[in-house]
Amino acid sequence: MSYENIEVRTEAGSVGIITLNRPKALNALNDALMTDLGHALKAFDADEAIGCIIVTGSERAFAAGADIRAMAKYSFADVYKGDFITRNWEIIRSIRKPVIAAVAGFALGGGCELAMMCDFIIAADNAKFGQPEIKIGVIPGAGGTQRLPRAVGKSKAMDMALTARMMDAAEAERAGLVSRVVPLEKLADEALGAALVIAGFSRIAVMAAKESVNRAFESGLSDGVMFERRLFHSLFATNDQKEGMDAFVNKREPTFTHL
Ligand code: HXC
Repeated sequence: MSYENIEVRTEAGSVGIITLNRPKALNALNDALMTDLGHALKAFDADEAIGCIIVTGSERAFAAGADIRAMAKYSFADVYKGDFITRNWEIIRSIRKPVIAAVAGFALGGGCELAMMCDFIIAADNAKFGQPEIKIGVIPGAGGTQRLPRAVGKSKAMDMALTARMMDAAEAERAGLVSRVVPLEKLADEALGAALVIAGFSRIAVMAAKESVNRAFESGLSDGVMFERRLFHSLFATNDQKEGMDAFVNKREPTFTHL
């Protein structure tokens, strides 16, 4: 399937790569792009062969935010009645396979929020993160005021949301917003390498790990630990647990069947 605002391909048969592609607007996230992205994410999630998904942009911009030209015309009635942006932005939260954001250049506003909706962020050394919505008379609307403080703490999140300043890749790594920073020219390989590692593991264990880490942001510690324990127990019902542990004991590589 081909799309107007994104490019979609697979690598090594097991990694799905989605490249945001509106270069003239620095990948500003309009309705059509987000609909394309949601469709492509769901298709990879449903594809048995795919074990991990990468969302990336260009060297200059992951995404410079929601499309300000489109939003400029909206009224309260438009955004409230139309449920802007729940309809096509929330799809990413329903994806059960891991989604890696590979970020180079600007990740601003909705672009930063989109990256934070992914499971982890690998950044190029030229990446710049920010929530500059305050400059155009609004606030973050896709989770920025909620996910950013969880990632970097209150002080830095307030600083970014209130002053609109950008955080460079080194600061983002220090603050825990991104998991790794690599030179720009190595970003694609680094993200693909991570995705291939993930895609090589048991799909069921991978999905359970993602589900359990995400639970940490929705529950208290005791409930979260109990949720983890029950998922951990349930993995002993899988063939992949038998295979993984037998392979370790017998000093061989495991062959996971995702069953
Ligand atoms: C629409 C955008 C855009 C955006 C850039 N462009 N960001 N169009 N929406 N968010 C367009 C510019 O209008 C310009 O088009 C082209 O991309 C190149 O941008 P320049 O500004 O010329 O580039 P540069 O001088 O390098 O500055 C880069 C920049 C700046 C710092 C990223 O473009 C910028 O500040 N953009 C807006 C960032 C922002 O405020 N994001 C938050 C949006 S609100 P032309 O046609 O002139 O060449 C948001 C709310 C999310 O995201 C809520 C949930 C959805």
